[in-house]
Amino acid sequence: MADLVIRNLHAKIADSDKEILRGIDLTVSRGEIHAIMGPNGSGKSTLSHVLMGHPGYEVTSGEVTFDGTDVLELGPDERSKLGLFLCFQYPYAVPGVTVANFLRTAVNAHRDTPIRIPEFRKQMADAMDLLEVDRKMSSRYLNDGFSGGEKKRLEILQLAMLKPQLAILDETDSGLDIDALQIVARGVNHHVGADMGAIVITHYQRILDHIRPSHVHVLIDGRIVRSGGPELAHELDAAGYASHMAEV
Ligand SMILES: Nc1ncnc2c1ncn2[C@@H]1O[C@H](COP(=O)(O)OP(=O)(O)OP(=O)(O)O)[C@@H](O)[C@H]1O
Ligand SMILES: [Mg+2]
Repeated sequence: MADLVIRNLHAKIADSDKEILRGIDLTVSRGEIHAIMGPNGSGKSTLSHVLMGHPGYEVTSGEVTFDGTDVLELGPDERSKLGLFLCFQYPYAVPGVTVANFLRTAVNAHRDTPIRIPEFRKQMADAMDLLEVDRKMSSRYLNDGFSGGEKKRLEILQLAMLKPQLAILDETDSGLDIDALQIVARGVNHHVGADMGAIVITHYQRILDHIRPSHVHVLIDGRIVRSGGPELAHELDAAGYASHMAEV
């Protein structure tokens, strides 16, 4: 079953004519992990923002469907309710909102009736244990003074609580030490099963040793110029993007 289907997607920055995505085709099914690699400025983060409905970008042509629903017609909240989830490359801080409150609000936004507090506490504690997050983190303000690694773990904690259908992880590995990387990978692997697909944006092979991708794509200058299996990531790690740049 094809879940997320992107066809010939073109997008530009909302207040300029600069086209960044220049015809993306990608299909991600549940149970699959698609790694997207590519040089700085090639459009990887733009693709994730466009998929989540960031108002700073405008789709100029093409289509995106999720389980047959036209995603581009929906606002960011509705996309999230549909089961799409984005981990940001640069998470932001929200002083005054505790981690626990933030997570509970996020969980409730995806339910018809609010989650009961004991059930929420249990789910949060289980997710924190899985990700080896200090339980004290739940009463701290969101991302306020968090280290880079703590922010990333919190995102995976959010993923574990929301159980999305499709997760987009934008450079979740940047700034993680090797232990944290393994823990984050464990969290992702735990949730990508028959019920979840993932797009993992990364510059480095090393996260892909832990989160094994089923597909690897090379994005250059707003287009996917090559797709393959996990071996492609190793090849890129050794040879870089130079040979692909010539194809653009
Ligand atoms: N809001 C914006 N305003 C101006 N330029 C933008 C904006 N968003 C993206 N761009 C430009 O679009 C191009 C693609 O950016 P994007 O962030 O998608 O790249 P990336 O592949 O994620 O790069 P990196 O590997 O460095 O994270 C870059 O040239 C960037 O400067
Ligand atoms: Mg980026």
